[in-house]
Amino acid sequence: MKIGLIGTGNMSRSLGILWAEQGHEVFWGSRDPNRAKSVAEFAGHNTQSGTNDEAAEFGEVIFYSVRGVMPSAILSSTESLSGKVILDCNNRDIPEGFAYGPLMAESLAEELAADIPNAHVIKAFNTMAQEVFELSPQPLKEHQVSAYVCGDHPAARQTAMTLASEIGFNPIDCGPLRSARLLESLGDFIRFMIGGMKLGPYATLSVNVLPSASERRLGGRQPSS
Ligand SMILES: NC(=O)c1ccc[n+]([C@@H]2O[C@H](COP(=O)([O-])OP(=O)(O)OC[C@H]3O[C@@H](n4cnc5c(N)ncnc54)[C@H](OP(=O)(O)O)[C@@H]3O)[C@@H](O)[C@H]2O)c1
Repeated sequence: MKIGLIGTGNMSRSLGILWAEQGHEVFWGSRDPNRAKSVAEFAGHNTQSGTNDEAAEFGEVIFYSVRGVMPSAILSSTESLSGKVILDCNNRDIPEGFAYGPLMAESLAEELAADIPNAHVIKAFNTMAQEVFELSPQPLKEHQVSAYVCGDHPAARQTAMTLASEIGFNPIDCGPLRSARLLESLGDFIRFMIGGMKLGPYATLSVNVLPSASERRLGGRQPSS
Protein backbone atom coordinates (compact mmCIF):
# COMPACT_ATOMS: atom_id res chain seq x y z
CA MET A 1 0.00 0.00 0.00
CA LYS A 2 1.21 3.54 -0.72
CA ILE A 3 1.16 5.65 2.45
CA GLY A 4 1.73 9.42 2.45
CA LEU A 5 2.41 11.08 5.78
CA ILE A 6 1.79 14.77 6.29
CA GLY A 7 4.12 16.20 8.91
CA THR A 8 7.32 14.62 10.16
CA GLY A 9 6.74 14.75 13.93
CA ASN A 10 6.74 11.97 16.50
CA MET A 11 3.61 10.12 15.40
CA SER A 12 4.26 10.43 11.69
CA ARG A 13 7.88 9.30 11.98
CA SER A 14 6.97 6.35 14.22
CA LEU A 15 4.04 5.02 12.20
CA GLY A 16 5.79 5.60 8.88
CA ILE A 17 8.79 3.56 9.99
CA LEU A 18 6.55 0.76 11.29
CA TRP A 19 4.54 0.57 8.07
CA ALA A 20 7.71 0.70 5.95
CA GLU A 21 9.01 -2.25 7.98
CA GLN A 22 5.81 -4.07 7.03
CA GLY A 23 6.61 -3.58 3.34
CA HIS A 24 4.41 -0.56 2.57
CA GLU A 25 5.65 2.25 0.32
CA VAL A 26 6.07 5.28 2.56
CA PHE A 27 6.48 8.96 1.66
CA TRP A 28 6.90 11.76 4.25
CA GLY A 29 5.81 15.27 3.41
CA SER A 30 6.81 18.36 5.33
CA ARG A 31 6.69 22.15 5.25
CA ASP A 32 10.46 21.74 4.99
CA PRO A 33 11.41 18.96 2.55
CA ASN A 34 14.88 18.79 4.13
CA ARG A 35 13.25 17.71 7.38
CA ALA A 36 11.28 15.02 5.53
CA LYS A 37 14.50 13.91 3.81
CA SER A 38 16.24 13.45 7.18
CA VAL A 39 13.33 11.35 8.45
CA ALA A 40 13.36 9.15 5.34
CA GLU A 41 17.15 8.72 5.64
CA PHE A 42 16.75 7.75 9.29
CA ALA A 43 13.94 5.31 8.38
CA GLY A 44 15.63 3.54 5.45
CA HIS A 45 13.47 0.83 3.79
CA ASN A 46 13.42 2.81 0.50
CA THR A 47 11.16 5.44 2.05
CA GLN A 48 10.73 8.71 0.17
CA SER A 49 10.22 12.35 1.08
CA GLY A 50 9.22 15.73 -0.27
CA THR A 51 6.57 18.35 0.22
CA ASN A 52 3.16 17.90 1.83
CA ASP A 53 1.56 18.24 -1.62
CA GLU A 54 3.74 15.41 -2.92
CA ALA A 55 2.87 13.20 0.06
CA ALA A 56 -0.84 13.87 -0.51
CA GLU A 57 -0.48 12.91 -4.19
CA PHE A 58 1.58 9.81 -3.37
CA GLY A 59 -0.56 8.02 -0.80
CA GLU A 60 -3.62 5.85 -1.20
CA VAL A 61 -3.68 6.21 2.57
CA ILE A 62 -2.71 9.53 4.17
CA PHE A 63 -1.58 9.83 7.78
CA TYR A 64 -2.57 13.28 9.02
CA SER A 65 -0.76 14.34 12.18
CA VAL A 66 -1.14 18.12 12.12
CA ARG A 67 -3.17 19.23 15.11
CA GLY A 68 -5.95 21.71 14.46
CA VAL A 69 -4.68 22.91 11.06
CA MET A 70 -6.83 21.73 8.18
CA PRO A 71 -5.52 20.34 4.86
CA SER A 72 -7.04 23.28 2.95
CA ALA A 73 -4.59 25.52 4.85
CA ILE A 74 -1.59 23.27 4.16
CA LEU A 75 -2.03 21.85 0.66
CA SER A 76 -2.18 23.85 -2.55
CA SER A 77 -5.30 21.80 -3.39
CA THR A 78 -7.21 19.18 -1.44
CA GLU A 79 -8.28 17.48 -4.70
CA SER A 80 -5.34 15.11 -4.27
CA LEU A 81 -7.08 13.63 -1.19
CA SER A 82 -10.33 12.74 -2.97
CA GLY A 83 -11.44 9.17 -2.39
CA LYS A 84 -8.45 8.45 -0.14
CA VAL A 85 -8.30 7.08 3.39
CA ILE A 86 -7.19 9.81 5.81
CA LEU A 87 -5.96 8.57 9.19
CA ASP A 88 -6.40 11.25 11.84
CA CYS A 89 -4.50 10.68 15.09
CA ASN A 90 -4.93 14.18 16.50
CA ASN A 91 -5.97 15.21 19.98
CA ARG A 92 -6.63 18.69 21.24
CA ASP A 93 -4.13 20.65 23.35
CA ILE A 94 -3.90 19.53 26.96
CA PRO A 95 -5.55 22.25 29.07
CA GLU A 96 -3.58 23.74 31.96
CA GLY A 97 -3.59 21.37 34.95
CA PHE A 98 -5.52 18.71 32.97
CA ALA A 99 -8.65 20.70 33.72
CA TYR A 100 -10.76 19.30 30.89
CA GLY A 101 -14.08 20.89 30.01
CA PRO A 102 -17.26 19.11 28.90
CA LEU A 103 -17.42 16.75 25.90
CA MET A 104 -16.77 18.63 22.67
CA ALA A 105 -19.87 19.04 20.50
CA GLU A 106 -17.78 18.11 17.49
CA SER A 107 -14.53 16.20 17.17
CA LEU A 108 -11.35 17.25 15.41
CA ALA A 109 -11.95 14.33 13.04
CA GLU A 110 -15.38 15.66 12.03
CA GLU A 111 -13.82 19.09 11.49
CA LEU A 112 -11.23 17.44 9.27
CA ALA A 113 -13.94 15.55 7.34
CA ALA A 114 -15.82 18.80 6.75
CA ASP A 115 -12.64 20.31 5.27
CA ILE A 116 -12.10 17.39 2.88
CA PRO A 117 -15.62 16.04 2.19
CA ASN A 118 -14.48 13.84 -0.73
CA ALA A 119 -12.00 11.90 1.41
CA HIS A 120 -12.68 9.10 3.91
CA VAL A 121 -11.56 10.36 7.30
CA ILE A 122 -10.81 7.73 9.94
CA LYS A 123 -10.00 8.43 13.57
CA ALA A 124 -7.25 6.12 14.78
CA PHE A 125 -4.07 5.89 16.87
CA ASN A 126 -4.98 8.82 19.17
CA THR A 127 -5.29 6.78 22.39
CA MET A 128 -1.73 5.59 22.85
CA ALA A 129 1.53 7.51 23.34
CA GLN A 130 4.44 7.45 20.91
CA GLU A 131 6.39 5.31 23.36
CA VAL A 132 3.90 2.45 22.91
CA PHE A 133 4.76 2.32 19.20
CA GLU A 134 8.41 1.75 20.16
CA LEU A 135 7.28 -1.71 21.35
CA SER A 136 5.65 -2.52 18.01
CA PRO A 137 5.01 -5.05 16.59
CA GLN A 138 6.65 -7.31 19.18
CA PRO A 139 6.33 -7.47 22.16
CA LEU A 140 3.33 -5.17 21.71
CA LYS A 141 1.19 -7.90 20.13
CA GLU A 142 1.35 -10.01 23.29
CA HIS A 143 -0.31 -7.19 25.27
CA GLN A 144 -3.42 -6.96 23.02
CA VAL A 145 -3.57 -3.16 23.13
CA SER A 146 -6.81 -1.81 21.62
CA ALA A 147 -6.54 0.50 18.61
CA TYR A 148 -9.91 2.19 18.30
CA VAL A 149 -10.99 3.02 14.76
CA CYS A 150 -14.03 4.94 13.53
CA GLY A 151 -15.17 6.49 10.28
CA ASP A 152 -18.16 6.61 7.96
CA HIS A 153 -16.65 4.51 5.15
CA PRO A 154 -16.56 0.79 6.06
CA ALA A 155 -13.80 -0.14 3.59
CA ALA A 156 -11.62 2.74 4.84
CA ARG A 157 -12.24 1.60 8.41
CA GLN A 158 -11.15 -1.91 7.43
CA THR A 159 -7.95 -0.52 5.88
CA ALA A 160 -7.14 1.31 9.13
CA MET A 161 -7.84 -1.82 11.18
CA THR A 162 -5.54 -3.90 8.96
CA LEU A 163 -2.78 -1.29 9.26
CA ALA A 164 -3.22 -1.32 13.06
CA SER A 165 -3.17 -5.08 13.23
CA GLU A 166 -0.02 -5.37 11.13
CA ILE A 167 1.94 -3.32 13.67
CA GLY A 168 0.76 -5.33 16.66
CA PHE A 169 -2.44 -3.64 17.89
CA ASN A 170 -5.84 -5.20 18.46
CA PRO A 171 -8.15 -3.12 16.25
CA ILE A 172 -11.59 -2.26 17.61
CA ASP A 173 -14.26 -1.11 15.15
CA CYS A 174 -16.07 1.84 16.75
CA GLY A 175 -18.46 2.56 13.89
CA PRO A 176 -19.17 5.96 12.34
CA LEU A 177 -16.98 9.06 12.51
CA ARG A 178 -19.30 10.56 15.11
CA SER A 179 -17.65 8.12 17.58
CA ALA A 180 -14.51 10.25 17.25
CA ARG A 181 -16.08 12.49 19.92
CA LEU A 182 -15.72 9.58 22.32
CA LEU A 183 -12.31 8.50 21.02
CA GLU A 184 -10.92 12.01 21.40
CA SER A 185 -12.25 12.07 24.96
CA LEU A 186 -10.50 8.74 25.45
CA GLY A 187 -7.36 10.40 24.07
CA ASP A 188 -7.77 13.07 26.74
CA PHE A 189 -8.34 10.44 29.40
CA ILE A 190 -5.20 8.48 28.57
CA ARG A 191 -3.15 11.69 28.64
CA PHE A 192 -4.66 12.45 32.03
CA MET A 193 -3.62 8.96 33.18
CA ILE A 194 -0.14 9.31 31.66
CA GLY A 195 0.62 12.84 32.88
CA GLY A 196 -1.97 13.86 35.44
CA MET A 197 -2.02 10.56 37.31
CA LYS A 198 1.66 9.93 36.51
CA LEU A 199 1.21 6.40 35.14
CA GLY A 200 3.71 7.24 32.41
CA PRO A 201 3.61 6.86 28.62
CA TYR A 202 3.28 3.08 28.59
CA ALA A 203 -0.21 3.27 30.13
CA THR A 204 -2.84 2.00 27.67
CA LEU A 205 -6.62 1.69 27.46
CA SER A 206 -7.86 -1.62 26.12
CA VAL A 207 -11.23 -3.31 25.90
CA ASN A 208 -11.26 -6.55 27.81
CA VAL A 209 -14.37 -8.69 27.25
CA LEU A 210 -14.75 -11.12 30.17
CA PRO A 211 -16.26 -14.60 29.99
CA SER A 212 -19.92 -14.49 31.10
CA ALA A 213 -20.77 -15.52 34.66
CA SER A 214 -21.83 -19.17 34.90
CA GLU A 215 -24.47 -18.31 37.53
CA ARG A 216 -26.38 -15.12 38.40
CA ARG A 217 -26.06 -15.32 42.17
CA LEU A 218 -26.63 -11.52 42.41
CA GLY A 219 -30.01 -11.79 40.68
CA GLY A 220 -28.88 -10.81 37.20
CA ARG A 221 -29.80 -7.60 35.41
CA GLN A 222 -33.43 -6.60 36.10
CA PRO A 223 -35.37 -3.96 34.09
CA SER A 224 -34.58 -0.46 35.45
CA SER A 225 -37.41 1.37 37.15
N1 LIG B 1 3.04 12.15 20.53
C1 LIG B 1 2.13 11.30 21.02
O1 LIG B 1 2.46 10.49 21.93
C2 LIG B 1 0.73 11.28 20.49
C3 LIG B 1 -0.07 10.17 20.73
C4 LIG B 1 -1.37 10.12 20.21
C5 LIG B 1 -1.84 11.21 19.48
N2 LIG B 1 -1.04 12.29 19.29
C6 LIG B 1 -1.59 13.42 18.51
O2 LIG B 1 -0.99 13.35 17.23
C7 LIG B 1 -0.76 14.67 16.71
C8 LIG B 1 0.71 14.79 16.37
O3 LIG B 1 1.47 14.60 17.54
P1 LIG B 1 3.06 14.55 17.46
O4 LIG B 1 3.54 14.25 18.82
O5 LIG B 1 3.49 13.73 16.33
O6 LIG B 1 3.36 16.11 17.16
P2 LIG B 1 4.63 16.73 16.52
O7 LIG B 1 5.83 15.92 16.84
O8 LIG B 1 4.62 18.17 16.90
O9 LIG B 1 4.34 16.60 14.95
C9 LIG B 1 3.36 17.33 14.28
C10 LIG B 1 3.90 17.67 12.89
O10 LIG B 1 2.91 18.42 12.18
C11 LIG B 1 3.52 19.35 11.33
N3 LIG B 1 2.96 20.67 11.62
C12 LIG B 1 2.87 21.28 12.84
N4 LIG B 1 2.28 22.49 12.72
C13 LIG B 1 1.99 22.65 11.40
C14 LIG B 1 1.38 23.69 10.63
N5 LIG B 1 0.97 24.83 11.21
N6 LIG B 1 1.25 23.51 9.30
C15 LIG B 1 1.68 22.36 8.71
N7 LIG B 1 2.28 21.34 9.38
C16 LIG B 1 2.42 21.49 10.70
C17 LIG B 1 5.02 19.35 11.64
O11 LIG B 1 5.69 18.66 10.58
P3 LIG B 1 6.71 19.44 9.62
O12 LIG B 1 7.49 20.36 10.50
O13 LIG B 1 7.51 18.36 9.02
O14 LIG B 1 5.88 20.17 8.60
C18 LIG B 1 5.11 18.59 12.94
O15 LIG B 1 6.29 17.86 13.05
C19 LIG B 1 -1.24 15.64 17.80
O16 LIG B 1 -2.54 16.07 17.50
C20 LIG B 1 -1.24 14.79 19.07
O17 LIG B 1 -2.20 15.22 19.99
C21 LIG B 1 0.22 12.34 19.75
